[in-house]
Amino acid sequence: MASLFSKTITLGRELKITDEEFRNLRDFIYEQCGIYVADNRKYLLENRLGNRLKQLNLKDFGEYYYYLQYDSAKSSELRKLFEVITTNETSFFRNPPQLKVFQDNILSSVIAEQRKNGSKKLRIWSAGCSTGEEPYTIAMIIHEILGPDVSSWDIRITANDLSERVLESAKRAEYSDYSLRTTPKEVVQKFFDADGKTYTVKPEVRRLVQFGQINLKDKAHLKRVERSEIVFCRNVIIYFDDEMKRQVISAFYDNLKPGGYLIIGHSESLHNISRAFKPNHYPGAIIYQKEA
Ligand SMILES: C[S@@+](CC[C@H](N)C(=O)[O-])C[C@H]1O[C@@H](n2cnc3c(N)ncnc32)[C@H](O)[C@@H]1O
Repeated sequence: MASLFSKTITLGRELKITDEEFRNLRDFIYEQCGIYVADNRKYLLENRLGNRLKQLNLKDFGEYYYYLQYDSAKSSELRKLFEVITTNETSFFRNPPQLKVFQDNILSSVIAEQRKNGSKKLRIWSAGCSTGEEPYTIAMIIHEILGPDVSSWDIRITANDLSERVLESAKRAEYSDYSLRTTPKEVVQKFFDADGKTYTVKPEVRRLVQFGQINLKDKAHLKRVERSEIVFCRNVIIYFDDEMKRQVISAFYDNLKPGGYLIIGHSESLHNISRAFKPNHYPGAIIYQKEA
């Protein structure tokens, strides 16, 4: 007889995952999108997928694993799985010291370099953009730097995420004051239309951002992204294992133009992942640069 702990058991309404079910689902999620759920985070799958099992009337996580692979609804279920297992925490002007370095050092020098070369084109990639706060923040900083001259530039911020739900929300560009918790008041006044409790990003900011779905596990898709002067991928690789981190960082390296910049999250590092970039140290931020 199987031990109590190796069987799926229902405690009240709470579904428990067995070790085997956990391993199967964990490996499946990793294969599909590169998100790695560590052994000590079993509860995460239980908590986040438990409701989904109840909605589908499935009795345990083994049935759900089977459903994901063989049911006729497996593609739409995979999209739902992505929505449930991704962590989409974000805000406008997240990590102000890093963004100050971006504004004062990185963007200013990229713009100066383009001007020197007689070009007014700028491509920035926000990979793992969640509900849009990051790419819109970048667009606002560009407006701050270029002022009215912005309309004479060819600028595109390509903003991608795995979850279609967050992208739909990003395209609506409507936010509550919670999303604006680290945004300076004058920026809110300048770049949002406020209507009661809702703050809508102004059209001139939205115009610079193009949203689209991408799976960072999909190497072929990554190769098709237009080459960029700057790549933002903040607070995303933290969910990947080292192998997936290496793949994604190497794709960003290939995407960047010579001399281009990679900006990762404050708590993330390329240590043991890539030696291809030069780390530039600034107060409050390390910005990685591809050789010119
Ligand atoms: C914590 S949010 C970070 C948002 C923003 N970059 C920031 O720093 O505020 C991480 C985002 O990465 C996305 N993500 C995770 N795995 C992904 C993958 N394989 N492909 C594309 N996006 C992914 C998630 O959907 C989520 O929206």
